[in-house]
Amino acid sequence: MKTALITGVTGQDGSYLSEFLIEKGYNVHGIIRRSSVDFRERIAHLEGHPQFHLHFGDLGDSMSLVQVVAKVRPDEIYNLAAQSHVQVSFDSPEFTANIDATGVLRVLEAVRACGLEKKCRIYQASTSELYGKVEAIPQNENTPFHPYSPYAVAKLYGFWITKEYREAYNMFCCSGILFNHESERRGETFVTRKITLAAARISLGYQDCLYLGNLDSKRDWGYAKDYVECMWLILQSRRPDDYVIATGVQHSVRDFAQLAFHHAGIELQFEGEGINEKGICVKGPEKLIGKTLVAVSKDFYRPTDVVNLCGDPSKAVKKLGWNPCKTSFEQLVKLMVEHDIAKVASEGAAHKVKMNLAEYLEKGIVK
Ligand code: NAP
Ligand code: GDD
Repeated sequence: MKTALITGVTGQDGSYLSEFLIEKGYNVHGIIRRSSVDFRERIAHLEGHPQFHLHFGDLGDSMSLVQVVAKVRPDEIYNLAAQSHVQVSFDSPEFTANIDATGVLRVLEAVRACGLEKKCRIYQASTSELYGKVEAIPQNENTPFHPYSPYAVAKLYGFWITKEYREAYNMFCCSGILFNHESERRGETFVTRKITLAAARISLGYQDCLYLGNLDSKRDWGYAKDYVECMWLILQSRRPDDYVIATGVQHSVRDFAQLAFHHAGIELQFEGEGINEKGICVKGPEKLIGKTLVAVSKDFYRPTDVVNLCGDPSKAVKKLGWNPCKTSFEQLVKLMVEHDIAKVASEGAAHKVKMNLAEYLEKGIVK
């Protein structure tokens, strides 16, 4: 039985990867941060499973990493832990650099300190944000990087140090350059989940209007559940290498919103430009017709924004046999909206309290 260690196990990808590896027969060990609350929503269903084990550790604390790696002696490490929000990286650039850049180095050094460099394969969660202010469309493994946020700059270090340890110490270290991937477990301040939750709340009468930033921004959105398979495939290949993981299909934030509201029974028509653009209800529940349900707020603009991401996954398709078309954009949006309608409906009035808190966090702290 193989043993895997996952950092960032409580996150969107960590939770799906844990399920995937348990299903493959792995013993899965996850690193969690100490916190004042015990409930870890995304992995609650796995706690107590005989193949699932948790350890305390922090990417900012090398001693904790060495201790866990020495205890678990993993065959594979998936380094998914990160401060993963781009806007937050403008507000907390030093913390982001410590975890997303130096944190990667700490994981690699923990493997060396434990003498596991020949046994342990390492996956680094890299990102399409490296292409940033893009220099070519679509982006593949040969496209020049042009990071365009503190998050991307930190992740660029993570990418290069992973490559460096592969070449300098002959370690099996790989980066997956993953384009945006979403799901019903996506964090609520990323744009897709913010939209699907708002579409659900508005259709059920709990919210009046959704405020967004740049509606023209384009992303290549895939389904997280499909992408974790690729992380595993990358570590099963004969030679260590880096791969772009994407669908090859691009949509704007506006497209995403229009389709999400459609699945909530509301047709939107967009009018105006820039800060004055509005999404008006032209079909749906009587009381919403003619109302502005989507508006633009400067609060959600970024100091520098990445606006044209579209990946070319040919190398992963050819060399790993990965299928980028398992879940389409249309299916992804539908499953997220259906999930959020059921969630909001079942939480009822309690959801209103949560929503107020989310609004406060978004306006006051997290954009
Ligand atoms: P996520 O939901 O935000 O999860 C991030 C995870 O990192 C959480 O488990 C978090 O723990 C953990 N973490 C944060 N700081 C830590 C620290 N100092 N020490 C230990 N753990 C820490 O992110 P995701 O969407 O699953 O993404 C997984 C990885 O892929 C990230 O590295 C992200 O940057 C990268 N990535 C994501 C995408 C995407 O579209 N989702 C695309 C490309 C790359 P808590 O629960 O305690 O906060
Ligand atoms: N979050 C957010 N909130 N983004 C908005 C909003 C809003 O109200 N309005 C417009 N956007 C735009 C952002 O400006 C950005 O161009 C785009 O929507 C996507 O934003 P996010 O969903 O926050 O994701 P991201 O692309 O910045 O980062 C995610 O994907 C990266 C891979 O490309 C994260 O998961 C990163 O960790 C990941 O590396």
